[in-house]
Amino acid sequence: MNAGDSEIVVSIMQQNGYIYTEDINQADIILINTCSIRDNAEQRIWGRLSAMRQIKKRKPSLIIGIIGCMAERLKEQLIEPQTGVDIVAGPDSYRTLPQLVRTAEAGERGINVELSKEETYAEIAPVRLDKNGVSAYIAIMRGCNNYCAYCVVPYTRGLERSRDPQTIVNEARILFENGYREVTLLGQNVNSYKCGEVGFPQLMEMVAQVSPQLRVRFATSHPKDISDDLLEVMARYENICKAIHLPAQSGSNEMLKKMNRKYTREWYLERVAAIHRYMPDCAITTDLIAGFCGETLEDHQQTLSLMQEVGYASAFMFKYSERPGTFSARHYADDIADEEKTRRLNEIIALQNSLSVVSNEAEIGLIREILVEGTSKRSEDQLCGRTSQNKMVVFDRGDHKAGDYVTVKITGCSSATLFGEEIK
Ligand code: 5AD
Ligand code: SF4
Repeated sequence: MNAGDSEIVVSIMQQNGYIYTEDINQADIILINTCSIRDNAEQRIWGRLSAMRQIKKRKPSLIIGIIGCMAERLKEQLIEPQTGVDIVAGPDSYRTLPQLVRTAEAGERGINVELSKEETYAEIAPVRLDKNGVSAYIAIMRGCNNYCAYCVVPYTRGLERSRDPQTIVNEARILFENGYREVTLLGQNVNSYKCGEVGFPQLMEMVAQVSPQLRVRFATSHPKDISDDLLEVMARYENICKAIHLPAQSGSNEMLKKMNRKYTREWYLERVAAIHRYMPDCAITTDLIAGFCGETLEDHQQTLSLMQEVGYASAFMFKYSERPGTFSARHYADDIADEEKTRRLNEIIALQNSLSVVSNEAEIGLIREILVEGTSKRSEDQLCGRTSQNKMVVFDRGDHKAGDYVTVKITGCSSATLFGEEIK
């Protein structure tokens, strides 16, 4: 989401006459787009800021802005004179960045952390920074109303709002015309997308119809809302990728309740079964949190057993990090010691590694269509690209280039990558 937001920010700045540079020493303005999801994300930003202050010593006219969730969360605190920060802008105030820069240029501090019920940056054409020219993000909604007990997002990104579907389809079409072959529709909870009569399944269908040559992905689905209607649409369109990111967070009903996730383990497993019913070949990935408030060893075991039962293709795994102001920070004790959180997390990671190997080995011998993203990191003579299930495959270049579809037979794997041979 932040990568997509940065592309909107660059677009707004360019429209106002600024020029984007990746060379930090050339920059007159540095905007740091931040994440508050866990404390370590914020700690990294404090580290970056201290490096920026060094640059500012050499170049006193340099303007430094903190934008995004951390700006929203910490507000004025970020703009104390010792931080070196000139601009603080929350996720809904990017249109005012040019004014905030002018304020900073006049020697004042520019701050806007107003959240909005409407802002979706709908008509702003993002400047694509990820230069592979093959796959792009399209933000379809902003904010979140779910208030999971541990999560800061509803506070930093505000309430949920959906973007006009026609602007989304237009963006997808323009990307396709410019050679892109894959779009990922982004939102905190895409299943609750709603704009007039158009819900998420209809939106997926509209985007899938742009071209059978355009792959469509999405992230993220909330398990409580993933509907049969969506699964039916996914199954019907070959170009809708067979991969679903379905964050479980925990396998224990006790924890799910405390987390305010609004589903049970049984509900989650039923949704997984539904996915397999509609799409036997669909990869499922997840997010998991280790050491949430009051998590017992039994709760933790339930997470491990859920992982085994689902057989995730891959997972993002985190230690619980208390975020000030969230429900769990206000009502529950963060009572699992850090070493114990680490131990549980490591168990989760070790299990996932073995599940990923199982999932990759199951691919060997299969024929898969790959969308080429570019040259492989290891060798100029090899290309890499993804299967519909979102697994990375490396294979000999032949006469192919980024953006081509290539049919390969999977011949081997490591824990992170598949190897393939082109089938002509
Ligand atoms: N601590 C740890 N992980 C968190 N996530 C969200 N909030 C927290 C937190 N306070 C994780 C969830 C979510 C992912 C984006 O980040 O797993 O799905
Ligand atoms: Fe956070 Fe829950 Fe919203 Fe995801 S659904 S952004 S975890 S509050």
